[in-house]
Amino acid sequence: MRTQVAIIGGGPSGLLLSLLLHARGVDAVVIERRTRAHVLARIRAGLLERGSVRLLEEAGAAARLHAEGLVHEGCLLAWDDRELRIDFAALTGHRMVIYGQTEVTRDLYDRRDALALPTVFEAEGVRIEGADGSRPRVLWDGGAIECDWVAGCDGFHGAARRAIPEGARREHERVYPFGWLGVLADVPPVHDELIYAGGARGFALCSQRSATRSRYYLQCAAGEDPAAWPADRFWAELRRRIPRRFAEALETGPAIECSVAPLRSFVAEPMLWGRIALAGDAAHIVPPTGAKGLNLALGDVAYLADALAGHYGGDGRAMDGYGPRALARVWKAERFSWWMTGLMHRFPDASPFDRRIQDAEFAHLAEVRAMREALAWNYVGLDL
Ligand code: APR
Ligand code: PHB
Repeated sequence: MRTQVAIIGGGPSGLLLSLLLHARGVDAVVIERRTRAHVLARIRAGLLERGSVRLLEEAGAAARLHAEGLVHEGCLLAWDDRELRIDFAALTGHRMVIYGQTEVTRDLYDRRDALALPTVFEAEGVRIEGADGSRPRVLWDGGAIECDWVAGCDGFHGAARRAIPEGARREHERVYPFGWLGVLADVPPVHDELIYAGGARGFALCSQRSATRSRYYLQCAAGEDPAAWPADRFWAELRRRIPRRFAEALETGPAIECSVAPLRSFVAEPMLWGRIALAGDAAHIVPPTGAKGLNLALGDVAYLADALAGHYGGDGRAMDGYGPRALARVWKAERFSWWMTGLMHRFPDASPFDRRIQDAEFAHLAEVRAMREALAWNYVGLDL
């Protein structure tokens, strides 16, 4: 088998990349370790920036998103019982769309089916050979493909990043001393906008998937066992962490899903080495506060598709720009996610000094429009 671009990973990054390349006349094959059903069963975040919406339109995969996505013009920050609305529409002229990553992934697969784009599923033991030459190969148990470029879209635990020699790779990491306990439930959302609530008992987030499905999160200990959180305990703790008027209105029900995610900031440099280009979670992780993960991944892919199209259009230097261009944007999103995580969470080792600083930061945001504007521009997403 031979292709121009071998894409490792059939998550949102790999799928979108294959569609953007197809639209530019570049051939690609997606090589995914799991089954399609397994990939589509993952529950992840669900908040899209305008740039992400535009990329999904370009890929021909935005019809359902426009029909079913919920457009949000602002969100609420709460600090104990103080509330502060961030009006993105007024501050930036832009909006966000609530649409689950699971649905994005499904739409991308459906679009690729319609175009009959090739995918290898259940590819175990994926490895890369010859990435320092001009004819790399991707191999797996029972198959192999020769290509010009390898796109590493295989997530944080994937094979592509590790195929870059250790001496050529720098990894930057911050692990936060807490996690997020997430619950999905078929109850109407407590508010029509998202609520990010900080305060003495720790952070909580009230998000949603539709008018009848809610997604809630609680800051918890890192490595907490979700089994220790039966639904009643979860709802009682959520009520304690959100402003009283929402606690009173909260509708509860059985959890469809309950899981704990660790929080980390992570960036691997460079994003291009030899013939391997990394994109999405393979190259970086952000803590979920602010929902940058999926949006950042789609942004990388837009840059990578441009660079590959430039390369095949005859620009011999087009690929050189990919890493620096992507990393410049990645680090700004890393900064914002780190900042918003620090603003809203209770750190177990925080001193009274640290807590006063958090308090002052919140007051400053409430008083100064320029502070809210900076937050809003980062939240709706930096220009692509
Ligand atoms: N070989 C082949 N495929 C692999 C391998 C491997 N060695 N390792 C992982 N994969 C597959 C996974 O099964 C998964 O389907 O690569 C895919 C990576 O998908 P994601 O982890 O979803 O990463 P990405 O596509 O970059 O999506 C961006 O944004 O909100 C965040 O973390 C969230 O997944 C989300 C990400
Ligand atoms: C989600 O809906 O899952 C979500 C929304 C906003 C975030 C993080 C997660 O900041």
